[in-house]
Amino acid sequence: MRLDITVLPGDGVGPEVTREAVRVLRTVLDLYGYEASFEERAIGGVAIRQFGTPLPEATVRACTESTAVLLGAVGGPEFDSLPSGQRPEAGLLGLRQALGGYANLRPAVSYGAIADCSPLRADVIKDANVLIVRELLGGIYFGEPRGFSAGSAPDAYNTMRYTVAEIERVAHVAFRQAQLRRGKLTSVDKANVLETSQLWRETVTRVGREYPDVRLEHMYVDACAMRLITSPASFDVIVTENLFGDILSDEAAVISGSLGMLASATIGGKVDLYEPVHGSAPDIAGRGIANPLGAIASAAMLLRHSAKLEQGAHDIEDAIREVLDKGHRTADLLPQHASSGRAGEPGQRGRAKRAISTTEMGALVESAVADVADRRRAYHAV
Ligand code: IPM
Ligand code: MN
Repeated sequence: MRLDITVLPGDGVGPEVTREAVRVLRTVLDLYGYEASFEERAIGGVAIRQFGTPLPEATVRACTESTAVLLGAVGGPEFDSLPSGQRPEAGLLGLRQALGGYANLRPAVSYGAIADCSPLRADVIKDANVLIVRELLGGIYFGEPRGFSAGSAPDAYNTMRYTVAEIERVAHVAFRQAQLRRGKLTSVDKANVLETSQLWRETVTRVGREYPDVRLEHMYVDACAMRLITSPASFDVIVTENLFGDILSDEAAVISGSLGMLASATIGGKVDLYEPVHGSAPDIAGRGIANPLGAIASAAMLLRHSAKLEQGAHDIEDAIREVLDKGHRTADLLPQHASSGRAGEPGQRGRAKRAISTTEMGALVESAVADVADRRRAYHAV
């Protein structure tokens, strides 16, 4: 098989983390004898600077003609004063619309080796493994009318809107994911207040009749926000509308210990899109200290969904676990108070003494991937 991948490094730490994801991806594809091409295009702030628009036509064309798209991050403080339609984020939202992927899969997994990075107690996050399925093309992000009227008494408005068809298609994805996992689906809404949520709940319930093997429950978003951190292990798959999913998926990052760990896949459209959940992190950009594991795990999702290379996806996920088990950590995974220990005292959290760089982490995962694959081959050879 041949893969043509468009790489959109974007802004801030985006280029640093995508470089490592591409490096790991190349290695795995090579191991499995896949041919691949990687073509870089501009999006977000870099595209504004270079082409005057956050989403150049050439970028959209390259993406729609490729097998999959791998994105870093968009956004930066220098664009904060621009109207929302001209900001780097508009490039990403426009790309999502152009590609048509409506189901955004955001897994949050607890890793034993970095359990101490989470502010949650180890016994609370133990075994937590949640998949948030976020509706990505509807709701308040895109609903019309929207606007900002300036003047002496400015006012601004957005519209949350959903059709039955928009809810059905993402519900089917979520039910199917639940079937592949532990058979439980939590549909999250605010049906005690919002009409869109009433339609959401009705529709998901109806779709659920086609999946008698999946246990469906409904939960209000405020209750879910609390449950997600008081008992994260009680969730399997969560399906929810765009804005709720945006918020809950950042919250779910506390399960993994760092936003830098989280990966995502956007599926259902013409071409699928893979991106870490974290943003451009302008405060640490260019310093080579960003955590590339979210981007690398997104590359694993690319192998799973776009290349149908489940084994390769597994290799990457095992490699990430292995590298963390050996105690390697980027700066975001080090305890903030490591140096507050008295002289001569070991850090209370974790074994890592110093943070490794973005490239060091990428290189470690790359070589771990090769080891993992070698070991599997040796095992199958006996
Ligand atoms: C995300 C981001 C984006 C979103 C922004 C950058 C437009 O926060 O992918 O979660 O809100 O969807
Ligand atoms: Mn977000």
